[in-house]
Amino acid sequence: MNRIDPHTLAPPTVPAVPAVEVLSAEKTYPNGTQALLPVDLSIAEGEFVTLLGPSGCGKSTLLKMVAGMLEPSDGRLLVWRKPVAQLHDCPHKLSFVFQSPTLMPWASVQTNVRLPLDLAGVPRKEADARVMESLALVGLEKFASALPRALSGGMQMRVSIARGLVTQPDLLLMDEPFGALDEITRHK
Ligand SMILES: Nc1ncnc2c1ncn2[C@@H]1O[C@H](COP(=O)(O)OP(=O)(O)O)[C@@H](O)[C@H]1O
Ligand SMILES: [Mg+2]
Repeated sequence: MNRIDPHTLAPPTVPAVPAVEVLSAEKTYPNGTQALLPVDLSIAEGEFVTLLGPSGCGKSTLLKMVAGMLEPSDGRLLVWRKPVAQLHDCPHKLSFVFQSPTLMPWASVQTNVRLPLDLAGVPRKEADARVMESLALVGLEKFASALPRALSGGMQMRVSIARGLVTQPDLLLMDEPFGALDEITRHK
């Protein structure tokens, strides 16, 4: 009999590697504002997760804690199984795109996007090539030598996103990155 067992055709199940683990993390700011009640969250490699909630519910607070920019009042946060405080010796790369573009106003678009590569000591020629690839991803390759003030708010935000992508991060954290973009660009 030539019967095919569908189970033998299925890919082997690979256990998902948790990239981010939030373990009962909570945050009360020094002024007493209780920004976040204990949260548990696990995000596997390759997952795309969106946090939804009204303004002031603690989305930015949680993101900043995952990035190690803010300490939880209690609980733990792990990135690839390591406490976020030890991110500097983690082989995985993390990028954070802030809610506002946070560009250097005196520097060209290209120099702004290259900043993380310059800080990492990537040779100039390779860095410039990666900057152009990253700008192409957000549709701004023609604006490489422009200054931020010559761009609209939405275009500045796309520069900031390009800067987040240029290091080809393993973990990309974005805080309302598409708020300033028009509907068509946002979908793209
Ligand atoms: N540095 C801070 N000091 C005190 N309170 C803060 C601070 N940052 C945020 N908050 C408060 O924490 C709560 C959550 O804020 P936030 O994480 O920015 O929310 P979201 O990003 O969802 O709009 C809000 O009540 C906000 O006012
Ligand atoms: Mg926010």
